Parts: sequence; C-alpha cells; structure tokens
Amino acid sequence: AITSVTGRSILDSRGNPTVEVDVELADGSAGRAAVPSGASTGAREAVELRDGDPGRWHGRGVDRAVHHVNTELAAAVIGREAEDQAGLDAALVATDGTPDKSRLGANAILGVSLAAAKAAAAAHRLPLYRYVGGSGARLLPVPMMNIVNGGAHADNPLDFQEFMIAPIGAATFAEAVRMGSEVFHTLRRDLLAAGHSTGVGDEGGFAPSLRTAEEALDFVVAAVERTGYRPGTDIGLVMDPASSEFFRDGVYDYTGEGVRRTPAEQVDHLVTLIDSYPVVSVEDPMAEDDRAGWQELTARVGARCQLTGDDVFCTDAAILREGIAAGIANSVLVKVNQIGTLTEALATVDTAHHAGYTVVMSHRSGETEDTTIADLAVATGCGQIKTGSLSRSDRTAKYNRLMRIEEQLGDSARYAGAAALHPPRH
Ligand code: PGA
Ligand code: ZN
Repeated sequence: AITSVTGRSILDSRGNPTVEVDVELADGSAGRAAVPSGASTGAREAVELRDGDPGRWHGRGVDRAVHHVNTELAAAVIGREAEDQAGLDAALVATDGTPDKSRLGANAILGVSLAAAKAAAAAHRLPLYRYVGGSGARLLPVPMMNIVNGGAHADNPLDFQEFMIAPIGAATFAEAVRMGSEVFHTLRRDLLAAGHSTGVGDEGGFAPSLRTAEEALDFVVAAVERTGYRPGTDIGLVMDPASSEFFRDGVYDYTGEGVRRTPAEQVDHLVTLIDSYPVVSVEDPMAEDDRAGWQELTARVGARCQLTGDDVFCTDAAILREGIAAGIANSVLVKVNQIGTLTEALATVDTAHHAGYTVVMSHRSGETEDTTIADLAVATGCGQIKTGSLSRSDRTAKYNRLMRIEEQLGDSARYAGAAALHPPRH
C-alpha cells in the first residue's frame, strides 16, 4: 500500500518550474515522476495549474499544484494499493471533482498517477514497460526525430512548428538512433555552409531563419540523401505544422511566409507538400477548430498518409471517439499530461487501436529527465514515439532509455519499422 506521497517543484527543460512526485510503498519500493509542459497546447487539454503570481517565476510557479499533491491528493491515495491503477486514478479524478482537472491541476494529478505506477513496478521488480505492458511487450517504436524547429518552439520565421525524420527502414531501434544522429549532423553542416544559424529550439532541433515549409523540407531531404539514406524508404519525413497556433478568424495566417490561406487553400497546400516530398506523417495539419478542413484533408490523403491528431483530440478518449465518427485523422498523438492520468491515457490508446487508428506516444516541448513515455511506448506496443531531437538530454534521455530497453529485451526485441505507420508499408 502507498505510505507516502511527496510533491516538489523542479525545473523543466525551458527553465520553468514543474511538478515532481515521489510515491513510497509499505515494502520500501518507490516511484518518481516529473510532469512535462506544453507551449502550443490544445484548447481542450486538462488544466495545468500555475500560480499566476507575477512576482514569482513570471507567474509560472507550481506551488499550489505541489501543495495539492502534498495534501488532498496524498490523502486520497495513501493506504491504497499502487497496483490498482484504475482505482487510484479514479480517486484522484474524483478528489479534483472538475471535468478538466482544473481545481487541483492535471500537473499535480499526473505526477501522482505516474509515480504510483512506477512504485508498483518497482514493488514487482519489473521495468515499467513490462509492468504496464505485460510479458508480451517487446515492440520498439519508430522515433520521429525533430531536426528543425519553428512556430511556438523557436524565434525564427518558420510557421510550421516541427520537421522530423522517421528512420522507418532501420532494423533496430539503436540503428534508427544512429541514422537520425548522422542526418542531424549532416544537416548542421549544411545549414552552416548555407550561412544559417545552428542554434536550436525548444525540442533540440535547429531553428534556422527559414520562411517556408518547402525550404525546410529541401534542407532535410538533402541531408538525408547526403548522409547516404533513401528519403521515403530508409527515412520518412514527418511534419507537425501545429496549425491551431496560426489559425485566426477562419484563416491560416502564415506570418513568416507572409501568406494567408483559407481552409480550402490550407488543404491544397498540405496535399501538395505531401505529394511533393517523401512525407509519411503529418500532425495537426489543420486547426483544432477547423473540423471541415480536417475532414476534407482526411478524405483527400488519409489513404496514403498518416494524419495525426494532437490538439484536435487532446488525448481524450471521448473527443477521439467524436473525431473518429466524424472522419477526422487516422492517428492520434498521446501526451499523458493532456489528459492527466495514466488510466485515461491508456484508454485513449485502446480507443484508437480499436478504431484502426495508429498511436504516437509523445513528449511535450517542456520536458525533464523523466523517461516514462519511452516505457509507455513499449508497454502499449504503439510502434511510434515523438520525443524531439538528437541533442539535449531532456530529449535524448528517452532515446537512451529505449536503447537500454532494446538491449534488455535482447532477441525478443522487435523494431516497429514502416509497418507501424498508417497506411502500413512493408
Ligand atoms: P507542445 O508541442 O508540447 O508545446 O504542445 C508539441 C506538439 O505540438 O506536438
Ligand atoms: Zn503537435
């Protein structure tokens, strides 16, 4: 049973405070989880509680959330069995009492939920991926590695937030990491040679002063080829335009590019990019409020390209079910802190899988050294993970954890490869 719950404020990768929780069990087992934080958040995400005191941390303190961990949430779970994740998470949600976890904070609740799972895994002397995923968990995900940052994650003019590479043709996860790292360093040299800055954005990808998606994609394709890989076969391209961020008054306002696109023009633009480049997956190509646009794009290219909903679904199984019924997307991004408990995040994975939607386990732009999502990717067998660049320890910690898991699994390990994406390529 849980004997103690301790919350504290630590720093995230952007230097902002975030919640960390320690859970201890009667047998001495312990679990620790740190909560990530987004910058380009969906409107329907569970609420991240910030103090809002402008005199401290520029208003971003989490002292109230930590206090809730140490008082009400601790009281709700102390004495409970950590193995009863569903019961424990239900108790956390009921203690908060609001539909969006705004009273105690989803950041407070998630910290307790994940730390309890890790303590339970420790009590069973199992790695988290095996405790959550069972003895069959052995699928290593295809990483979507972010190598160019824009949008809300960088100060450059690029309107799209993320340009990524997915080593779909690798034989193992470790090989995928090597391929990604090689391309990352080729890209660095190419950007330098072209006179661009090689400073990086929030997720560790380069943030050069490019203006259009085409410019960024051209650099990425060239880097893949110059490193010796076949674009689209060995390495697929992935984008996260994070379109909700620049959808204003019914139009997509590309301020960096200096172009405004109607929803119909946005669909055409995305279709052209998908057809002109070896793009295998696009996340949030349309804004969360542009339902008709999402339906139109899904109808046009959904059969040949993975379309992943992030802001539009917010890791909420109920919202995802509506989207599935409406013919929106064919894949869902899963960010545990968008929904606030492990049980609910796993329910979203199940909902997606039952509907034939693929799942991409994901970090946030504000991260910590916590590697829980690496284990969750293997536990759920979802086959895809998005966890940033090939630099910065907050990102590489997840890759390093996955390489250790692959080593631990030995002969039983399988790398998901191209078959994990929609539509499956073999
Ligand atoms: P966020 O960005 O963590 O800042 O929301 C990640 C994403 O949009 O996928
Ligand atoms: Zn996104």
